[in-house]
Amino acid sequence: MSKFIVANWKSHKNIQGIKNWLTQFQTELASLPTSAQVIVLPPFPLLTMMKTQLQQNQPHLELGVQDLSPFPAGAYTGAVTGYNLQDLTVKYALVGHSERRRYFQENHQQIANKVAQAVAAEFIPIVCVDEPYLAPQAKAIEKKFYSKCIIAYEPIKAIGSGKNQAVNKVKQVVAKIQRFFGQVPVIYGGSVKPANAAEYLLVSDGVLVGGASLDGKKFARIVKKVEQD
Ligand code: PGA
Repeated sequence: MSKFIVANWKSHKNIQGIKNWLTQFQTELASLPTSAQVIVLPPFPLLTMMKTQLQQNQPHLELGVQDLSPFPAGAYTGAVTGYNLQDLTVKYALVGHSERRRYFQENHQQIANKVAQAVAAEFIPIVCVDEPYLAPQAKAIEKKFYSKCIIAYEPIKAIGSGKNQAVNKVKQVVAKIQRFFGQVPVIYGGSVKPANAAEYLLVSDGVLVGGASLDGKKFARIVKKVEQD
């Protein structure tokens, strides 16, 4: 099975920053390993530009969004829906990142509604969970959507801290997640970098990368680890 390597740029980057990133990425990695599915999650306003750039230079990189409205298109000021994103070649929607839970007070039910909206838009939801709320989050999501999801195990303490989770623990939690959700792909996120990515690829279906994805060269070095898998 191929490995998902996901770049979560959060609220970083502008148009020039993306151009630089693509140059760095391409210089480091001319062609992607065949078993890697490389997904970039830019901020919403940069999706159009990313789509054009990727079509010209990197047709094998895929696009996703970092969040999605829990509502369909309608009178929901400020919210971005699947409908708004049509024709932008978006394939994935990250939902329930711990930063959304923490800074935007999102709860399990809202995140479950986002999963439903992602599926309705034919996006693949990437649902972020940490162990303490794995059970209630799974319960809130309609079971019929489980098989459509990728689950990202994101231990809060490991995010942005440089304290990546022990690989054995990740292995255990991947198995636990699959006991809840079935045989869905499970990826790991939390201080992944070129030096530790290979270990996580051995025990999971991929990695979700924040800080180390901001530099195109560094991120390409993580993608290269798939070849050694
Ligand atoms: P990090 O972020 O790689 O900077 O720890 C991961 C994430 O927030 O998904």
